[in-house]
Amino acid sequence: MGRFDEGFEGCVALVTGGGSGIGRATAERLTGAGARVVLADLDESRGKQAAKALGTDFVTLDVGDPDAWREVVSNIDRSHGALHLAHLNAGIMTYRASGEELARPFELGDLPDENYRRLMATNLDGVVFGMRATAPLIERSGGGAIVATASTAGVVPFAMDPIYTASKHAVVGFVRSMAPWLVARGIACHAVLPGVVDTNILAEGFADKAREIGIPVIAPDQIADAVVHAARHETTGGLWICVAGKAPYAYEFEPVRGLGVPAKSNGERA
Ligand SMILES: NC(=O)c1ccc[n+]([C@@H]2O[C@H](COP(=O)([O-])OP(=O)(O)OC[C@H]3O[C@@H](n4cnc5c(N)ncnc54)[C@H](O)[C@@H]3O)[C@@H](O)[C@H]2O)c1
Repeated sequence: MGRFDEGFEGCVALVTGGGSGIGRATAERLTGAGARVVLADLDESRGKQAAKALGTDFVTLDVGDPDAWREVVSNIDRSHGALHLAHLNAGIMTYRASGEELARPFELGDLPDENYRRLMATNLDGVVFGMRATAPLIERSGGGAIVATASTAGVVPFAMDPIYTASKHAVVGFVRSMAPWLVARGIACHAVLPGVVDTNILAEGFADKAREIGIPVIAPDQIADAVVHAARHETTGGLWICVAGKAPYAYEFEPVRGLGVPAKSNGERA
């Protein structure tokens, strides 16, 4: 029987980037389902506002900071005594994505070092450090799930922002490779892969421009549904594609011969 077969009542969940967009929608969904949610965000005023509105705890966290991760998890342990679900969701783009940039060529030569480091620290370190910090407490709590927010840019090229694309491909590879190790510790590990979602990560005009060129725009609630779906799923290592108006579906790579999954890990999928 899976940890969330009976729902989320009484479970403890952490949502990073919970102050806005997808994280906020997931925090709302989990709170509504009876979970005790800790909402973490770098933006203190946004995070506090969301936490107040949703009735969750709030903690200021830079997901790229490994020491901050240790502190946050030990505080959750102290105040809630358990953790069952971590939604590692905080993320940024290399530049704020305005509608105009959909058509602007990406100039790698103009990429500021600072933007590159900040993006990788948030989108990739945030998942690696987050998983490293939360897995031991989830295991001690009797198991649960870790769900990362990647992107459809984790499996297809997104030429508007190749750096973002690289970070999301890395998250996909990391989640798939960690899943067989975590399943042996009672932890399922998934990624959700949204298309374009109407949130603050997009500058004004981007969503309209996307619709104009025929790209459907998704509401954050739909991604919250996908996070819940992934966390409750009986498999692990799933990549859940989220497109407008469709239930999340699992993306499958063509099989390629590689070193694969260690036999002792009992991974159901890789
Ligand atoms: N909106 C989309 O079109 C879309 C599509 C695919 C994937 N995603 C991914 O969804 C995730 C959530 O993004 P969103 O669309 O809800 O955007 P958003 O900007 O509405 O929310 C992101 C939140 O993360 C927080 N954050 C940023 N850096 C942080 C850090 N270092 N530590 C902690 N918190 C930090 C921000 O303050 C913000 O509250 C991201 O990983 C993003 O890449 C978004």
